[in-house]
Amino acid sequence: MRRNFCICALFSASSITCVLAQSLFFDEKALRSETSCRLHIEGDVDGGKEVSRSWVFQYTSRIRYTHMAMIAALDNGTFFVAWQAASRTEGSSEQDIQYSVGNLNFAGALQFGEPKRAPVGSGEGAVWGPVLHVDHHNAYLWLFYSESRGSCKGSVMEWAPGGDIMALQMDLMSGAWSKARAIYSLQEDRGIPKVTANQALVLSTGEWILPFWRERALLSFSPACRELDGDTSAGVLISYDEGFTWEAHGEITHPESWLIENAVSEMPNGEVVMVFRTEVGFVYVSRSHDKGRTWVPAVAISQLPNPNSKVDLAWVTSDDRGALAVVFNDHQEARRDLRVALSWDAGRTWTRVATIEAGEEGVHLHYPTMVQYGCYLVVVYSRFYARTRHWAREHSKEQGIRIAAIDLRHLSPQPSYFDHSALQDPEQQEELQQIRNQADAFLQLATFGQH
Ligand SMILES: *[C@@H]1O[C@H](CO)[C@@H](O)[C@H](O)[C@H]1NC(C)=O
Repeated sequence: MRRNFCICALFSASSITCVLAQSLFFDEKALRSETSCRLHIEGDVDGGKEVSRSWVFQYTSRIRYTHMAMIAALDNGTFFVAWQAASRTEGSSEQDIQYSVGNLNFAGALQFGEPKRAPVGSGEGAVWGPVLHVDHHNAYLWLFYSESRGSCKGSVMEWAPGGDIMALQMDLMSGAWSKARAIYSLQEDRGIPKVTANQALVLSTGEWILPFWRERALLSFSPACRELDGDTSAGVLISYDEGFTWEAHGEITHPESWLIENAVSEMPNGEVVMVFRTEVGFVYVSRSHDKGRTWVPAVAISQLPNPNSKVDLAWVTSDDRGALAVVFNDHQEARRDLRVALSWDAGRTWTRVATIEAGEEGVHLHYPTMVQYGCYLVVVYSRFYARTRHWAREHSKEQGIRIAAIDLRHLSPQPSYFDHSALQDPEQQEELQQIRNQADAFLQLATFGQH
């Protein structure tokens, strides 16, 4: 049974309107007022009350795998959310890209329509990792993604992640889509699948930068993949002509871990910051001082744990000062405790400010992507059960693509994974205590000093 009961709101003298409970609610003031959009941290630890959540898509009997959600917003309150979808399993040939359009109505409710299938994929290979990008100047909605192809198939999944990076655009006026075309081939870099997962950015120079990575995961299972000789690394594509042609830069690696699912943001001083998923328990960061051409060696952010899962990064603007925001799983093993942290020093120190959803054993809350809208940070992510033989979980509708809105005017300090983790190593304990002290000092400043 679907719980689509109605919430009724009286919002003008004479009319009562009912909206589905399955929508996300915004405070009109936070969308409009230019004076009060201030990053404000207050209250007790783990207040968490200023986060509202809803579904963009819930599993149906036909679609029982959705992942890698992406979000983009127009200034007028229209939101686009896209994700990869399959009937059952990741990487099957029928894996397509679906998207749903949401509109914010004048009662402050954001509701999404029925998902549509994006006009991508040749029907041969799986498509992966949609990236949406609004080009306000030319009134296009761009969709970047990757597409599996060729003879390299057949492993634990039908297709391994990635392939050619593809692009197409929708005309926002007519709603018509262009044809999809390859912008960076599987054959480049001695042959290796390329994957995208995080937003493209328009730099202060006007260039566009699209983070992507080269991935060998699962290739060794299949003899047909041996011709693909390229190495795992992360990089960016850069475009000088607003998305039509692209050049690859950067082959960022680390001896101890893969660096994948990279996300980028540009700081006010022009530095470009990139963060990564890793398999060594922490989010890693690299920086570029030449707009993405070269990157310094990546290092761990010891305040941000990572359970080998995607994070996202965004520059958040406010009246008083901007901040760098990260959305991440605050855990080293489990894809739970989905939190937002802010940094006022370009990612060197972090303060946890909101918990999107804490989760529970056996549930994955993961792959967040975010966009700022007014004084809100709007985050989409996947919720599904870990692989299980449990009938009720396999058939549960409490799975799909979630959306949450965080009111940046009312943030609360949040607990850290490190506060309750049972790390035994005394050296690491000491380092963490130092980090905690710094974070506490910083939080005091952020709360009371406002600078
Ligand atoms: C916002 O603008 C887009 C593109 O012009 C249009 O398709 C959409 O309907 C508009 N949304 C609202 C809520 O007016």
